[in-house]
Amino acid sequence: MNVRPLRDGEQNALLDLAGLWPSPDDYPMRDLFARYVEEDARFDPRDVWVAEGDALVSCVQIFPRKLVMHGKSVPIGGIGTVFTHPEHRSGGLAASVMRAAMDDMQGRAMELGLLFAGPVPFYEKLGWHSWEVQRPLLRPRGEGDPDALAAAEAFDPARDLAEVQAIHASYSRLRDGFCARDSRDWWISLRNSGHPGEEFLVARDAGRVVAYVRAVCLSRFLVIMEWGREQGATQALASLFAALLTRREDDPLAPAGRPSLEFRSVASASPILDESLEAALEGCGIDVATSEDAGSMFWVANPEAFAYRFGEPYRRRDTGDLEEPGERERRLLARVLPPPRFAFWPADRF
Ligand SMILES: CC(C)(COP(=O)(O)OP(=O)(O)OC[C@H]1O[C@@H](n2cnc3c(N)ncnc32)[C@H](O)[C@@H]1OP(=O)(O)O)[C@@H](O)C(=O)NCCC(=O)NCCS
Repeated sequence: MNVRPLRDGEQNALLDLAGLWPSPDDYPMRDLFARYVEEDARFDPRDVWVAEGDALVSCVQIFPRKLVMHGKSVPIGGIGTVFTHPEHRSGGLAASVMRAAMDDMQGRAMELGLLFAGPVPFYEKLGWHSWEVQRPLLRPRGEGDPDALAAAEAFDPARDLAEVQAIHASYSRLRDGFCARDSRDWWISLRNSGHPGEEFLVARDAGRVVAYVRAVCLSRFLVIMEWGREQGATQALASLFAALLTRREDDPLAPAGRPSLEFRSVASASPILDESLEAALEGCGIDVATSEDAGSMFWVANPEAFAYRFGEPYRRRDTGDLEEPGERERRLLARVLPPPRFAFWPADRF
């Protein structure tokens, strides 16, 4: 089996392979992957590693991104589109293609790898670490808040994007590990983050946007994939959450066979990391519970460069060292990005 980067012109063969992934939604997986391959101006075939026999049988895609931590931009490789043809599994193909992608990331001075895993043990064997987050589950007490729904406005990019972009940049700094987004990234996110559509609501004060939320339906559940607020607009933001958790007549997100009332009765979100927002949600009649999610995984690709960037002590493992391989790199990352501080907006998912 030949492991190599994808060549220009092989995009269709890649989509034929990844499109075999069984879809948990009504949305065809080939269309989902087409966004990352055909509809994303950042796509470069050299970011995709494949194994080839008679045809392409295994693939891994690197998503070059900048992750912001402590106000610094860290070059990382997101990993996605990890797939082996069902007839070629358990032969070590995905592991070989992953290793080739990881070598490539190291050679390109990416400091970290980040992925959102199904099979966690598969990635652990390759040196990845679970970065466990407490994922909030939000439930309205009662049947939601029709007044909040009536007050929320639909986002209009021509009118609102500049204000929302400024809120994203400042509010996201409450957390570490979010993707930096320039204007082009914003337009790509607006085009590609829905599943297939998204609900994007804004709240205004004196005509200006002061808070926003973005939600999708993933695996038939309501997922709040991003939000932000100006300082002092906590109540406005909590009302937008309440609007999302309220049934509507023509529900743009509820999947076939799930009534809006049931679909809107629970939502999962990123870690909130905003105490005043949590209190305001309670005040709006929204209960917040959490569940552990071990699916976010990091790999420290270039520990020396990463340690130097943050002024952290680091030396490679000596021969004869009793420490587990990778443990020193895991501790280095945990000093800079303790798991409870890590929150990623699913709107940037790969
Ligand atoms: C995960 C996947 C890419 C592995 O491809 P592969 O070429 O068979 O991988 P390898 O042969 O290198 O490694 C296989 C090992 O991965 C691990 N593994 C695979 N799927 C797993 C799962 N769902 N849970 C736990 N471990 C899993 C097992 O240890 C397996 O070893 P085994 O076959 O001896 O049991 C393939 O099963 C696949 O395409 N699955 C569907 C898509 C998917 O889940 N992708 C990953 C999303 S993050």
